[in-house]
Amino acid sequence: MSLRVARSIAALRRYVTAARSRGQKIGFVPTMGALHEGHLSLVRRARKDNACVVVSIFVNPLQFGPQEDYRRYPRTLARDRTMLADACDCLFVPDARQMYGPEFRTHVEVQGWSDVWCGESRPGHFRGVATVVAKLFNIVQPDQAYFGHKDIQQALLIRRMSEDLSFPVKIRILPTVREPDGLAMSSRNAYLSHEHRQQATVISRALDEAVKTVREGNRDAEVVIGRVRQRLRQASEASVEYIGIMDPVTLDKVRMVERSSILLLAVRFGNTRLIDNCVLGES
Ligand code: PAF
Repeated sequence: MSLRVARSIAALRRYVTAARSRGQKIGFVPTMGALHEGHLSLVRRARKDNACVVVSIFVNPLQFGPQEDYRRYPRTLARDRTMLADACDCLFVPDARQMYGPEFRTHVEVQGWSDVWCGESRPGHFRGVATVVAKLFNIVQPDQAYFGHKDIQQALLIRRMSEDLSFPVKIRILPTVREPDGLAMSSRNAYLSHEHRQQATVISRALDEAVKTVREGNRDAEVVIGRVRQRLRQASEASVEYIGIMDPVTLDKVRMVERSSILLLAVRFGNTRLIDNCVLGES
């Protein structure tokens, strides 16, 4: 199997039209590159479920705020391409001019979900994500698309958008892939200093603490969050942006934890912002 690289929307469309005419289902994994095992787990699952697998790499300027890391976001195309060589059929790498022409004006917003949790400190971020994913879905027209649980607000928001706008695509949300010491895999982990990388393992321990607290019979969200805060204090450099517990259907804050409730958090180590989450009813 040789990896086909499509650099234009037209080339990608020709590729998927041909695959479809052979009766193949299309699985799609949108990424911003700097691939790691978390991305590869999505690609492998897409491979299992579909005869044709498309991965996109596009660092989407619309989802970065003016003070954020768009310029320094890791771009490792040659390495990514090698990692994907035997894993997918087609790699789509459009450039920003193709995706957003000079007259571009149209955005997609999932009202009420774009400015909560991570959206509170990242105005415009989820509007940028929804817009690019809607556009990618229109280009690739996948049967199934794959997202990681680590970015749970993003994954749920994309599922909401797809249902609301009747995209004929199934959104699959797959488990977070972790380093052996528990840190959730993320392209941004590369920014961490040695000291911060070591301290960041406190996040997964704090999530374990939350699950344990619920298992012991505590369902009061404030109690669970209090335990998580306490655990995070063990890392002197951790600065909590938010910790909360939400309902996965409404994204509303919950006061009493249910089996499906999700604890989510954002923590900074220096300039690096890390996010993670866990379903509280799961062990
Ligand atoms: O999760 C990401 O890498 C990005 O937000 C996505 C979904 C590829 C949209 O740019």
